[in-house]
Amino acid sequence: MARPFKIGIKSKQEIAILRDAGKILSAIVESLKRSLKSGMTTREIDALADSLIRKYNVVSAFKGYRGYPGNVCVSVNEEVVHGIPGAKVIKDGDIVSIDAGIIYREYYSDMAVTVGIGTIDPVLQKLIETTQSSLSLGIEQARAGNHLFDISHAVQNKVESNGFSVVREFVGHGIGRHLHEDPEIPNFGEPHEGPILEEGMVFAIEPMVNVGDWRTKILNDGWTVVTADRKPSAHFEHTVVVLKKGAEILTQYYG
Ligand code: MF3
Ligand code: CO
Repeated sequence: MARPFKIGIKSKQEIAILRDAGKILSAIVESLKRSLKSGMTTREIDALADSLIRKYNVVSAFKGYRGYPGNVCVSVNEEVVHGIPGAKVIKDGDIVSIDAGIIYREYYSDMAVTVGIGTIDPVLQKLIETTQSSLSLGIEQARAGNHLFDISHAVQNKVESNGFSVVREFVGHGIGRHLHEDPEIPNFGEPHEGPILEEGMVFAIEPMVNVGDWRTKILNDGWTVVTADRKPSAHFEHTVVVLKKGAEILTQYYG
């Protein structure tokens, strides 16, 4: 049997810090999103992330994490997650996933978005919309009294009923004093199973959704996760806190 999850409950004070961390991160990701343009290299996106992270006086949660070299992850088309910024040029018709995490006053926040560059194929548009709404539906299940895998099931159901597949080798996670805390949050599962959710639990929920098969491979750089069939993949992530009546999205951008 799998080891039991020890899910931390954050205090009101901790949640207040996580709320500020989420606000800052959402502003950083919003700026990155708006600056994406055909012809840019993924390294330029990372450089921009670096300057935004400095501007807000926070620290990248990813740079140096297990030796990860970038400030953010930039994953293009068939790249699922953990794309290392480099010489790759993004072009019209691509889909680009930006995953960013910061540390603010010793607390972590984590989020990801996928954006289409210029005019994209309708299938890719549907992929992006489905992934984003699967995240919203998962978040809706993150309320006190529900089971953890109610979140997983809601994501999987949305994705598969639209003809796409959910990645299984990578999952969401608890977050707080560390980037990755218990529990693991798969994007597939049975409803009414898993630990019961309580107020004050903080989760990074992150569906990774493929046009084709769910299987993935890691490239020789040791990081970049690609779909095994090299078909495109999308990724959205929010950091949320479980409350009595529902979840509060800490990384929601309000402008
Ligand atoms: N959002 C990803 C995660 O939660 C980011 C990790 S990238 C790494 O796992 F570079 F930090 F590993
Ligand atoms: Co994450």
